[in-house]
Amino acid sequence: MEIISVINYKGGVGKTTLTANLAAELAFRGKKVLMIDLDPQASLTFSFISPEEWKDNIAPAKTIKSWFQPIGSRSKKKDEEEVKFEDLIIEPESTSEIVRENDGMLKLLSSHLDLINVDLELATQLGGANMTQVKESFLKVHTRLIDGINQLNEEDYDYIFIDCPPNFNIVTKNAIVASDYILIPAKPDYLSTMGIDYLKKSLNKLVKEYNEYCEADGEVNDEEKISPKILGVLFTMVQLYGGQPISASRPFIAQTKKIGMPVFESMIRENKTLFSSAPIDGYPVVLQGGQNNVITEIEEATTEFEKKIRENEE
Ligand SMILES: Nc1ncnc2c1ncn2[C@@H]1O[C@H](COP(=O)(O)OP(=O)(O)OP(=O)(O)O)[C@@H](O)[C@H]1O
Ligand SMILES: [Mg+2]
Repeated sequence: MEIISVINYKGGVGKTTLTANLAAELAFRGKKVLMIDLDPQASLTFSFISPEEWKDNIAPAKTIKSWFQPIGSRSKKKDEEEVKFEDLIIEPESTSEIVRENDGMLKLLSSHLDLINVDLELATQLGGANMTQVKESFLKVHTRLIDGINQLNEEDYDYIFIDCPPNFNIVTKNAIVASDYILIPAKPDYLSTMGIDYLKKSLNKLVKEYNEYCEADGEVNDEEKISPKILGVLFTMVQLYGGQPISASRPFIAQTKKIGMPVFESMIRENKTLFSSAPIDGYPVVLQGGQNNVITEIEEATTEFEKKIRENEE
């Protein structure tokens, strides 16, 4: 089971689109995949299920909100039954048939528009009167997601993708703490690439802080420590000319490599027509079939993704 967070501070760089398509393609290739939507905008969730279905069947008790919330109101809910992580996971109908043809599986843990309040609530849980309390609250607040993932059977999933919101709040930090790998989609432009170096620094800072708190525990074993690895930057919505990124994009791709970031060889080009209709169908572009450059590029990116994971595992 490999856990991958899809992160970039910058909004609208293709995080959700990439998550949905990579996850769907891997499931189509026979892998067992879980997608976790951690963004209160819930775009990933609405890429697979309709707002009506979400409102009626999912929102009341089957979203990530139900998982995070008890931490803030545990005293009130003491007598109620604990939420089981697995019970929050659904299998979107739109894709189940096609992925099952090859024995794959694609599941979803949906988001909730209220997740924004959960983040604020979690922030109030931090701190304490002394170092021991500060450390305990820090670890408790940041391990909520990994505690849930740890309830799952290791064999039940090959990949877990976590689609993060465009910020570095506590919910995003939960994703990082839970992750083996970080995947960074970016547009090759100034604003999208500017934040990559900053993201790397923030990641390092969180890992250091977390591991220091773990050590302060006294009885720490190395398994509790975290070391998420940056799998790479994958350029999306790339404008091409003659099969190559337009000259305006190239400096940003070069700069990303120059700061020592691993960069995917695969890129996904911009195609407004294809992506504009996708979310409504509950069916990611890559599964729609037919001959299309973007589909080929997503397939190539998926192959490269698995290759990079394999290389890292060796
Ligand atoms: N290759 C592409 N070509 C054209 N449009 C695209 C492409 N990939 C994604 N889009 C569109 O760009 C918009 C933003 O994409 P997406 O929601 O995946 O970004 P995001 O990084 O998850 O955004 P947010 O930060 O708001 O979560 C969407 O409307 C999506 O359909
Ligand atoms: Mg998104």
